[in-house]
Amino acid sequence: MTSSQDAPRPSTASPPGELSGRTAIVTGGSGGIGSAIARALSARGATVAVVDADDRARAVAADVAGFAVLGDLTAADAPQRVVDQVVAETGSLDVLVNAAGIQVRTAAVDIAAQDWERLLSVNLTAAYRLTQAAVKFLTANRGSIVNIVSLSSDRAVAGIVPYGATKAGLLQLTKGLAVELGPQGIRVNAVAPGYVVTPMTAEKLGDPEFHDRVMSRIPLGRLADGGDVADVVSFLASDAARYVTGAVLPVDGGYSIT
Ligand SMILES: NC(=O)c1ccc[n+]([C@@H]2O[C@H](COP(=O)([O-])OP(=O)(O)OC[C@H]3O[C@@H](n4cnc5c(N)ncnc54)[C@H](O)[C@@H]3O)[C@@H](O)[C@H]2O)c1
Repeated sequence: MTSSQDAPRPSTASPPGELSGRTAIVTGGSGGIGSAIARALSARGATVAVVDADDRARAVAADVAGFAVLGDLTAADAPQRVVDQVVAETGSLDVLVNAAGIQVRTAAVDIAAQDWERLLSVNLTAAYRLTQAAVKFLTANRGSIVNIVSLSSDRAVAGIVPYGATKAGLLQLTKGLAVELGPQGIRVNAVAPGYVVTPMTAEKLGDPEFHDRVMSRIPLGRLADGGDVADVVSFLASDAARYVTGAVLPVDGGYSIT
């Protein structure tokens, strides 16, 4: 007899097809989490624009039968260009996922001026400008925005304090935009991943002392993979979350309650 614990974890947590006919932008779509989000949205029927500065976006786009939009999102004209290109290709825009991000590990007082500016530009300003560019199309379709924040958005995490400050800004933007855009039918939510093994975290999580310290605080007893985050993003982007806005969902195996 097989117990429910022996059953394999399903690769998708909600029905395929629930995003059929929708168009989604996923920034950071070449990355560990963004590429998983692109796959999850595509598996549910969405047409996905994989947006990234790294040209691995092309391979991800091919994988999800979507299309790649390459470029540095901090360029002044990039957010509007991305939205215009996606709407020109597909005729609409329903979902914006802001997953592009960078991290700088340093004591806060030591951060170089250009690193501080870069963190703000990628993690906060680019997401804000994309939102501005996307709103008129999202309004037409009662669409939704999902921002990827972090455990460090509302907790003090030594070594990544400036990063946490940008994510706190994105979290607050999420809530404020949910209030302002709700009357237009646009939902704005955030997902706060815990420790996900990706190029951003691989080196730090490879440090055995750090790894063991993190693991000791995760009730579910494992690190996350991109798919764990992507399934929750898909839920928030879908009509299953039609009455959810301004929410910040931790996807951290319970880390934040320990
Ligand atoms: N990995 C984790 O444990 C973790 C935890 C919490 C939050 N996050 C957040 O999740 C998101 C995805 O992170 P990840 O772990 O997949 O990292 P990643 O490094 O694998 O992916 C980030 C992607 O963003 C892209 N990017 C960076 N700057 C850009 C720019 N200026 N223009 C266009 N693209 C740009 C990179 O090319 C990369 O593909 C980030 O916002 C990160 O802060 C990650």
